[in-house]
Amino acid sequence: MMPFANLTAQREAYKSELEEAENAVLDSGCYIGGPAVADLERKLADFCGIEHAITCGSGTEALTIALMALGVVPGDEVIVPDFTFIAPAECVAFLGAVPKFADIDPETLQIDPESVKALIGPKTRGIIGVDLFGQCAPFAELRRIADEHGLWILEDAAQAFGASQESNDSGLGPRRACTLGDISITSFYPSKPLGCYGDGGAIFTSDARLAEKVRMLANHGCRERYLHETVGMNSRLDALQAAILRVKLRHFEDELKVRRENARKYNDFFAAFGDIQPQRIAPGNTSTYAQYTLLVRDRETFIQVLDRAQVPHCIHYPMPLHRQPCFAGAGCIADGSKNHAEIASQKAVSLPVCAFTDVDFIIDKLRSVL
Ligand SMILES: Cc1ncc(COP(=O)(O)O)c(C=O)c1O
Repeated sequence: MMPFANLTAQREAYKSELEEAENAVLDSGCYIGGPAVADLERKLADFCGIEHAITCGSGTEALTIALMALGVVPGDEVIVPDFTFIAPAECVAFLGAVPKFADIDPETLQIDPESVKALIGPKTRGIIGVDLFGQCAPFAELRRIADEHGLWILEDAAQAFGASQESNDSGLGPRRACTLGDISITSFYPSKPLGCYGDGGAIFTSDARLAEKVRMLANHGCRERYLHETVGMNSRLDALQAAILRVKLRHFEDELKVRRENARKYNDFFAAFGDIQPQRIAPGNTSTYAQYTLLVRDRETFIQVLDRAQVPHCIHYPMPLHRQPCFAGAGCIADGSKNHAEIASQKAVSLPVCAFTDVDFIIDKLRSVL
């Protein structure tokens, strides 16, 4: 069976550049911080068009640090989408705050601003907008709500580094993912659109004060060595991962083009099937297609077909977050009035779409069995 994310083919394609970069770090004696990390942070910030990019140990740690920098304390409430990977809700709960689960749009699968509004209460401090499957959340609407209620926005772009969204401000043009929150994060988990060879993440902001806090929190609460101003953590991207990411970043725009072309081929193919709907990409958005996700009326039968054709697949995600056992009895409230998160969790199935996946081959296989 072919892999869901073809990371070995990607390594083969960039092998000499990667080995040169890896050897340079290994020979340098500088393994934590140093020039490779500093240069990557500058390049990430420039790519997104934002002042500050601070790398750290993972996307999950990036979320935790961002929430700490925003001042989240036990008892605060934070609104998160009910249909996503657990990390954003987990980090809120990890800090003793309460995730409140907003429902999603049934087609784009993104957090539903109307549901967000319904969950706002006196203890609500902010909204986490997740750029699900590589498409930016509806930030213009989220911003209007946040401004009206004095809330912050944390953009979880773990799946969407490289995506973009048309700005509401005329003349500004599209903005990149990782610039759409008061603070934003991404993940460099290996299978993410821009992935390293281990765990890694980054935090982005245009607010110099928040950026300084983030750097301090990620480094044991220190600005000055051995002077710990606050309780922080050790969350660092090591130099080897930074060197790998610098190589992959050189090829990233080309990879994104192939991912989008792969998604277009799938869209064309599935257009003939009325009971199979791709995640809708809202006007003004470009997706990174972290995964290519379909909503399928009879998922069980569809998966049997995929298995017969030996097409790899994943279910992102099999249940809405508010039903996860870890949140039981934690006072977590979900807006389930429309049940869209529940329905998506029963219909969603994702197909391989990375730049090294032969989507023509997959479509040929599917054509013979569908
Ligand atoms: C939406 C979302 N947020 C956060 C994370 C956490 O990232 P990491 O695995 O780097 O901790 C993930 C990882 O899959 C994710 O999909």
